Amino acid sequence: MTDEDDAEETVVRRDRFSGGPAREFLSSLGADERIFAADLAVDRAHVVMLAEQDIVDDDTASEILGALADIENAGHDELPDGEDVHEAIETAVIDRVGPDGGRMHTARSRNDEVAACLRYRLRSDILDALETVLSGRDALLDAASEHTETVMPGYTHLQPAQPTTVAHWLCSYEQALARDTERLLDAYERVNRSPLGAAAFAGTPFDIDRERTAELLGFDGLVENATDAVSARDCLVETTAAATGLGLTLSGLAEDLVVFASKGHVELADEYASTSSIMPQKKNPDTLELVRGRTGDATAGLNGLVTTLKGLPRAYNRDLQRASGHAFDAIDSVVESTDVAIGAVTTAEWPEAALADAAGDGFATATGVADSLARSGVPFRTAHEVVAHAGERSADPAIEDIEAAVEELLDDDQANALDWDAIEQALDPTASVEMRDSRGGPAPETVSTHIARARTRLDTDSEAATDRREDVELASAHLDREVDHYV
Ligand code: ARG
Repeated sequence: MTDEDDAEETVVRRDRFSGGPAREFLSSLGADERIFAADLAVDRAHVVMLAEQDIVDDDTASEILGALADIENAGHDELPDGEDVHEAIETAVIDRVGPDGGRMHTARSRNDEVAACLRYRLRSDILDALETVLSGRDALLDAASEHTETVMPGYTHLQPAQPTTVAHWLCSYEQALARDTERLLDAYERVNRSPLGAAAFAGTPFDIDRERTAELLGFDGLVENATDAVSARDCLVETTAAATGLGLTLSGLAEDLVVFASKGHVELADEYASTSSIMPQKKNPDTLELVRGRTGDATAGLNGLVTTLKGLPRAYNRDLQRASGHAFDAIDSVVESTDVAIGAVTTAEWPEAALADAAGDGFATATGVADSLARSGVPFRTAHEVVAHAGERSADPAIEDIEAAVEELLDDDQANALDWDAIEQALDPTASVEMRDSRGGPAPETVSTHIARARTRLDTDSEAATDRREDVELASAHLDREVDHYV
């Protein structure tokens, strides 16, 4: 398109500002594709309300709503040029209806309009994220149920620490995902409020009904103060922070699997691994490395978002146009990453014999042995010393090494009170796991009880997400019916 063509376009209100070198720079039209459907919904709700309040007559409302249907069918790519989707849709309405199409923008501004669109869209993005995380939790709990007795090494500082089980490790991530779920649900509550009707920032003389547009759009109440309504983007921050929390959980899970794969503790399914273009023997955990990398887009997004928002004055400032992209990128990165990370972990094979062998490496049973001494009355600190002493005698201490250390460091009364069966048991990784049956511990029965409790929590969270999804769908069907009265 040449500059001359541009000058002839009917671009709403932009004749004075339609050209110039900053035109591309100002425009968010491309990125606004994400809120194209949201803007149409917001337009419809607004026009229905204007008609109900007799601010526009029914015939005009009918023509505008008909034009909006036509614009929807044509799709975002067919919109006329404009600074953003709001302006482009308005231009497209006026192109179809004539000057009366301009009544659509009565009693509102792009400021409340864009704020409503972002919340409307973000709401369904949060629901998508929730649904992905909920099914991920379900899959993790299923996998955990199969591995309550699969003993594996547990690490702190990446050093062998204590034997645990695959189920206990899996449940540790399911529980973290449960908190990520709560944060997303919590963010949803504050996202789901309507700023529409705030106009530029200072309300409007028209007798609008803000509660009605909120209801038509399925919002659960208003962001009441008009200045706050157009300025506020903290709901983006909350959502992005929740997404970042989820990203952190996933990146930890991915990193654990990368480490486990390098030690031969886990065998990834071929579809979640890559090979090398030169080294024929390689099977690399690339998908998980990419989960680790991709979730960085969420942490980066949070950083970008708060940097954009910090210190902005009231009310609307164009910087805000750069805010929402960070939130959407963050959400996208964690939704994709959830699918891949959960897919990788739930299709992986756990080589049970190798894991059981490795579970005692690095004298990982030491704490259990010390616990056994302490359970026979030895002060724990002394027991710790005895076991450390045995560990100095041998890298892989046997019962004789413990006996020698006991003889050296304990008095006769303490030594005579010891339960040697229990001590011998504690040297066995499987028995060591079974001993640790405190609430939240790895003993198989304890983990089974935990899984049952986690399932109850998952059911509650699933219901919460389903309820919200239903509310949104009901509101959307309701809006369609109201629009049908006019067209
Ligand atoms: N494209 C703008 C945004 O995303 C819409 C609001 C424009 N408002 C204005 N006063 N220039 O924020």
